[in-house]
Amino acid sequence: MNAPLIDPFARAITYLRVSVTDRCDFRCTYCMAENMSFLPKKELLTLEELDRMCSTFVGLGVRKLRITGGEPLVRRDIMTFFRSMSRHLDSGALEELTLTTNGSQLARFAGDLADAGVRRVNISLDTLDEDKFARVTRWGRLPQVLKGIDAAQAAGLRVKINAVALKGFNEDELQRLTEWCAERDMDMTWIEVMPMGDMGETDRIGQFWSVEDVRAQLAQHYTVTDIPERTGGPARYVKLEETGQKIGFITPLSHNFCESCNRVRITCTGEIYMCLGQEDRADLRAALRNHPEDDAALEQAIRAAIALKPKGHDFDYSRQTVAGQVSRHMSHTGG
Ligand code: GTP
Ligand code: 5AD
Ligand code: SF4
Repeated sequence: MNAPLIDPFARAITYLRVSVTDRCDFRCTYCMAENMSFLPKKELLTLEELDRMCSTFVGLGVRKLRITGGEPLVRRDIMTFFRSMSRHLDSGALEELTLTTNGSQLARFAGDLADAGVRRVNISLDTLDEDKFARVTRWGRLPQVLKGIDAAQAAGLRVKINAVALKGFNEDELQRLTEWCAERDMDMTWIEVMPMGDMGETDRIGQFWSVEDVRAQLAQHYTVTDIPERTGGPARYVKLEETGQKIGFITPLSHNFCESCNRVRITCTGEIYMCLGQEDRADLRAALRNHPEDDAALEQAIRAAIALKPKGHDFDYSRQTVAGQVSRHMSHTGG
């Protein structure tokens, strides 16, 4: 048996997030600049290399695999990769194979994802207003995403809606979004906006809406009960007694959750990022490409990287300035 991956703070690494492309068909204002330059294709891990990378992590004790991007469903032939990963679900090595998506391509792919063993998807949706949606995503169209959500539910996938909490943007939609999700039997997670990538004109502090405040506002309309449920991700959940739905809160700014961190990230070029909020990274692609027949070098490179996992992020807005900003965009590591 391979020894499990344990970091210097005694945290077991059982959750791998893999970005399969840096491209996206949207340009969300808090996530990307309007003019992004993307990587040339030859820099990307091939689907076979992605398979080997993920399978090696599964062999080292990863139980939860989340595919992200960019927008993962714009990567050509990505269903081949999902189908191939499903063997680890069949063997019982992997507990969950899932993805985070903007929903734009789900009308095409929901059925195939369900067939590959995906049971639930997280779909990013910050507003139900068509004009606001067009503004925040720059390139996105709400009806297309709503069709994607319908298709996911029709395919039997459980849907969780991710909303980034944005002051002056979706504050007024808290109840509407909650009710809309409840009617459709969907859970929801609110995420605090993190200082990742240089956003140019966008003012992070002006945008910041504390998720503690989201919770307080929900409590004015509903009976909010803490529940112990965990998905293996960073959200902490409450139940709304009146609707029965679960609401998650991801609070990197208002309440740091790094002590229970169980995850690392792989970029589409095969770099491992040991923390979302730090620059620490290591190249795994060389170990993969230089040793095509043998995973020992890759395993060793993975262990060496985990041994350098930092304690946590340094994001902080509490002094009314942005501290702990990282230069790369969220789309680089997939959140
Ligand atoms: P579940 O499996 O449903 O719990 O999903 P998840 O929260 O693990 O994944 P998802 O892709 O939905 O992530 C939601 C948000 O949480 C994204 O904006 C991520 O950037 C953020 N997030 C995930 N992991 C971390 C983390 O380790 N640190 C910080 N600061 N944010 C994270
Ligand atoms: N802060 C917080 N969440 C972000 N996301 C993208 N950029 C940011 C940011 N700067 C969210 C997306 C998606 C998830 C993967 O990350 O909305 O739900
Ligand atoms: Fe883990 Fe870093 Fe996220 Fe903290 S910020 S939970 S240490 S990845």
